[in-house]
Amino acid sequence: MAQLNWGMIGGGEGSQIGPAHRLGALADGHFRLVAGALDHRAEQGRAYAQRLGVASDRAYGDWTEMLAGERNRPDRPDLVTVATPNSTHFQITKAFLEAGFNVLCEKPMTLTVEEGEEIVKVAEKTGKICAVNYCYSAYPMVRQARAMVQEGQIGKVRLVVTNFSHGHHGDATDADNPRVRWRYDPAMAGVSGQFADCGIHALHMASFICNDEVTRLSADFASTIASRQLEDDAMVNFRMAGGTVGRLWTSSVAIGRQHGFDIQVFGETGGFRWASEQPNQLIYTPLGGRTQIMEKGEAGLCEDARRLSRVAIAHPEGFPLAVANIYCDLADAIRGAPREGLPRAAAGLRSMAAVHAAVASAKAGGAWVDARPPMFR
Ligand code: NAI
Repeated sequence: MAQLNWGMIGGGEGSQIGPAHRLGALADGHFRLVAGALDHRAEQGRAYAQRLGVASDRAYGDWTEMLAGERNRPDRPDLVTVATPNSTHFQITKAFLEAGFNVLCEKPMTLTVEEGEEIVKVAEKTGKICAVNYCYSAYPMVRQARAMVQEGQIGKVRLVVTNFSHGHHGDATDADNPRVRWRYDPAMAGVSGQFADCGIHALHMASFICNDEVTRLSADFASTIASRQLEDDAMVNFRMAGGTVGRLWTSSVAIGRQHGFDIQVFGETGGFRWASEQPNQLIYTPLGGRTQIMEKGEAGLCEDARRLSRVAIAHPEGFPLAVANIYCDLADAIRGAPREGLPRAAAGLRSMAAVHAAVASAKAGGAWVDARPPMFR
């Protein structure tokens, strides 16, 4: 099968997420990097792209240059990844979709709900794929958990409890670090800090595993480092359309917690727990039975869990390969065989609606508010 051409915007040298995209996109041979505008500093971006093997005439100083240079090429990218800071996602994603490119956008997809709705509409109108990098949903054992819920193995889901709480922004003396600061600056990050940064991964995961949508929520936000304009800690209670009760804690000042993302799902006939720091395992307890450790690579797992695992049982298979799984599903979709698990623009829009709902709720002292985007009400 012919390799697909891939372009990248953002994710320059030293960025947090750039390496995971490169390792992910290139892991299975589906894509090759042909074009890039990798850095907000034009020269550094051009130089780095060339060091990664991009031809000099396709190593761009900024994304508008890349759009102009690539849109009419016969060998233009089949997929463009947007891995820049949040405030730029909408403009770049919309422009590339309108020019007929498939896009993988980093989360949060947009800053506002209106922008999110527009992206959904543009993707529908152009018929192009717009995926959002909810990469945790692509771990094999997360797909296994989802399949078990769909098969009714834990019965109707009563309760979901999820945390995405780390301590890496807990040092008040580091608050001015430019890579930390933008996340709490409304001009760069939007209306929400930690909830939009990490909380939406947890919220998406709850929806993804339960195969259900968040409808209402109540939020409490706090900026525990006083210089921060946006929250660095949030507690969100939510309800899903099917009646599931949700509890979510997200924090960036929880010193001692490392990655800190976990989820527990409790149904009428069983429950399970998955944690990003032990991603190969799903801890499952049937009602009245023993707790079992299900391991990636063992016999009897669902098709997705088998398909999205490359290394033998008990070998660690971590974050970049979860991102690679998003790229595998994208490659299938681009080649005309879409898979149902790939997070699309609708998921990005739902997250934005939840972010704005949480901000409104927190301002109103935790009032319960509608968390659905207007176009899905
Ligand atoms: P970062 O600050 O570490 O890196 C941002 C990169 O984008 C830098 O290389 C910068 O030079 C480049 N950049 C900025 N503006 C640009 C522009 N206009 N054109 C081209 N390049 C530009 O940020 P980080 O942590 O890598 O985050 C980037 C995005 O990825 C954010 O939206 C963030 O929310 C998301 N993210 C997603 C994760 C996930 O698990 N899916 C994990 C970490 C970040």
